[in-house]
Amino acid sequence: LHFMLILGIETSCDETGVALFDTEEGLLAHGLFSQIDMHADYGGVVPELASRDHVRKLLPLCDQVLVDAGRVRSDIEGIAYTAGPGLIGALMVGGSVAHALGFALDVPVLGVHHMEGHLLAPMLEENPPAFPFVALLVSGGHTQLVRVDGIGEYELLGESVDDAAGEAFDKTAKMLGLDYPGGPRVAALAEKGTPGRYRFPRPMTDRPGLDFSFSGLKTYTLNTVNAAKDAGGLDEQVRADIALAFESAVVDTLTIKCRRALEVTGCKRLVIAGGVSANRRLRAGLEGMASKLSAAVFYARPEFCTDNGAMIAYAGAQRLLAGQQDGERIIAVPRWPM
Ligand code: KG4
Ligand code: ZN
Repeated sequence: LHFMLILGIETSCDETGVALFDTEEGLLAHGLFSQIDMHADYGGVVPELASRDHVRKLLPLCDQVLVDAGRVRSDIEGIAYTAGPGLIGALMVGGSVAHALGFALDVPVLGVHHMEGHLLAPMLEENPPAFPFVALLVSGGHTQLVRVDGIGEYELLGESVDDAAGEAFDKTAKMLGLDYPGGPRVAALAEKGTPGRYRFPRPMTDRPGLDFSFSGLKTYTLNTVNAAKDAGGLDEQVRADIALAFESAVVDTLTIKCRRALEVTGCKRLVIAGGVSANRRLRAGLEGMASKLSAAVFYARPEFCTDNGAMIAYAGAQRLLAGQQDGERIIAVPRWPM
């Protein structure tokens, strides 16, 4: 096989994402249905509601993406879907549709790892990173530093021993009375913060190693919020000051560990991926650090930092081209280390 038109399907959590990737022409079209408004009333993703909405949205979205690309179903030459990690019901929807379509069209089908999708999303941009590189994966469920030597050649350098960075953003948002998902909202509130008003810890940066811990930071935020409340002063400005102090602590912590990872590996390329990589202060912090090491930072456009079908189509395409496929079984793995 040399060239293929791949349909990519992402349904691991609260976004239904579909894309068509041509291994010669690149990304042809992509579409996303976000369930954020539906889950917002509950303060987080409700798994059963997520599954049902994927059922409603997935096939219409596949057809829409085909129309946008000027193609028809029978043009599809391979199908990639997110096989995990994620919510089991949501994963099953994507896997079922992928396998049903693949069976009907008689084309290979492959379940891919969600985090490999995130990891490779920057490859969809102009000037993609060459191998090897160090990747910082920062999403709602993962905070990992990985050395990447090629597709499927991943060496875990370090990871969070407790909460993921995105999770810490989401919990901080809740404490500050902001809606789900909290990351972008904390970042927006932090824009109005006074630098230096509060100073939060930079967890695990004073000892060697490349692991992270964010649960202590969450407690620190809670204590600061409660202290401000007790003092009768949790107004908009104080909330913004806390948001900024929290965001700065996360950015500094991630930046210190990324610098270490670049130094330890000798790599001159840093890739950041996953929802939190959309964070502007994080991008700026990492770029400042990297320029001092004469290293370059790579990331995806904001809509491809969070969950999307394009990253799954791309990751799947690389593996389908190499001849990998599922066979007849649907793969759905809620917990799955990369
Ligand atoms: O990669 P993603 O869409 O889903 C997972 O695989 O988890 O990441 C979602 C996470 C959420 O925790 C969200 O709050 C966070 O990414 N996030 C951000 C920003 N945009 C999304 N965190 C900080 N700043 C942002 N701009
Ligand atoms: Zn994700």
